[in-house]
Amino acid sequence: MEQQRKPIVILGPMESESAYLIENLDHPAEKDFGSYRFTEGALFGYPVIVGRTYIGMVNAAAATTLAIERFRPRCIIIQGTSGAHDPSLHQGDIVLGESIVHIGRYFAAHMDSGKGCDYTRWSYPGSEIVTDGELKEIDVLHSDPSIIAAAAATDYPYGRVIRGTIGAADIWNRELDVIARLREQLGTDCEEMEGFAVAQVCAQMGVPCADIRVISNSEWHPGEEFDHSYGRYCQEFCRDVLEKLIKA
Ligand code: 5AD
Repeated sequence: MEQQRKPIVILGPMESESAYLIENLDHPAEKDFGSYRFTEGALFGYPVIVGRTYIGMVNAAAATTLAIERFRPRCIIIQGTSGAHDPSLHQGDIVLGESIVHIGRYFAAHMDSGKGCDYTRWSYPGSEIVTDGELKEIDVLHSDPSIIAAAAATDYPYGRVIRGTIGAADIWNRELDVIARLREQLGTDCEEMEGFAVAQVCAQMGVPCADIRVISNSEWHPGEEFDHSYGRYCQEFCRDVLEKLIKA
């Protein structure tokens, strides 16, 4: 029973990706560790902590480690905005990251000076992860199936909800040939800058996690430029996912 009351931590990188969830908490209380702010409270009568990670893989890894060490959560959800790799996705659609890949962990082929850059010769060697005392090179990490199942059963009024693969790295790709190549090589449906870092720390610390993203921009569709307001849609969806998880 005690296990059941372990808090759920939900992370968002930017203000526009965390403020709505914080506003929805009952009995909010802020806890700062250095620059990382966590707001403890309750949703649907259950302990929930909202953490602001700030942008990028290093911030996400630090915030995840702090959350695990300080709060011993039952699971961690990272959510927020992302850019589409799948041309059929549009602003407002949601990707449930059944799979999460690292799109910055590439190994370039040698090129002589003055020959430029050839991303078609990059390979993706996988990330070093130690689980159960064994060092492995892992190409892909996975969200917890029970969180994905709850999310897939949650209503969402602003677009489609698909299960897919989310790519993460400290990079914002806008070149369609590179985006198409990542999609072909790693199967990415969208990209962002935190998910794999959260999933990697969670994998190594034995904590279930999930990555849930809204499409806020697509290079495939002129006019679908980055727009902060989609961060709110993702938080509304995640609040409803939490309700499903908590009331299950
Ligand atoms: N590429 C990379 N990151 C993106 N984000 C939204 N769209 C993209 C994109 N196309 C998210 C990242 C980061 C912030 C800059 O917005 O996750 O937190």
